Amino acid sequence: MTLVRFLKSDGTLDKEVEAQAGQRLLDVAWAAREPLEGACEGVMACSTCHVIVDAGDFEKLPPASEEEEDLLDLAAHATRTSRLACQIILTEDMESLTVRIPASATNWLRR
Ligand code: FES
Repeated sequence: MTLVRFLKSDGTLDKEVEAQAGQRLLDVAWAAREPLEGACEGVMACSTCHVIVDAGDFEKLPPASEEEEDLLDLAAHATRTSRLACQIILTEDMESLTVRIPASATNWLRR
């Protein structure tokens, strides 16, 4: 079991949810009704699942693939701890993970 904290674009806490090891972060976000589009559903053809990982949690994640890095170059409001939620698989040793939903996500979804 992993605790996932979703922060709003302003950095305030939106939701804290429990998730299982093996789940994709994108699926956890959708189940929690977070405003992440994920237009290509994980086939690496968009960057609308972009999240900003908390600096303290970023090192817990395996490095991004070259393909993911290329897509992140296209993401609005990307930072050095940006990742694609469809590429993050939760693991047992990841006790918690905090991610911020960038402001661009709400623009894509017109919220
Ligand atoms: S959902 Fe398209 S790259 Fe993640």
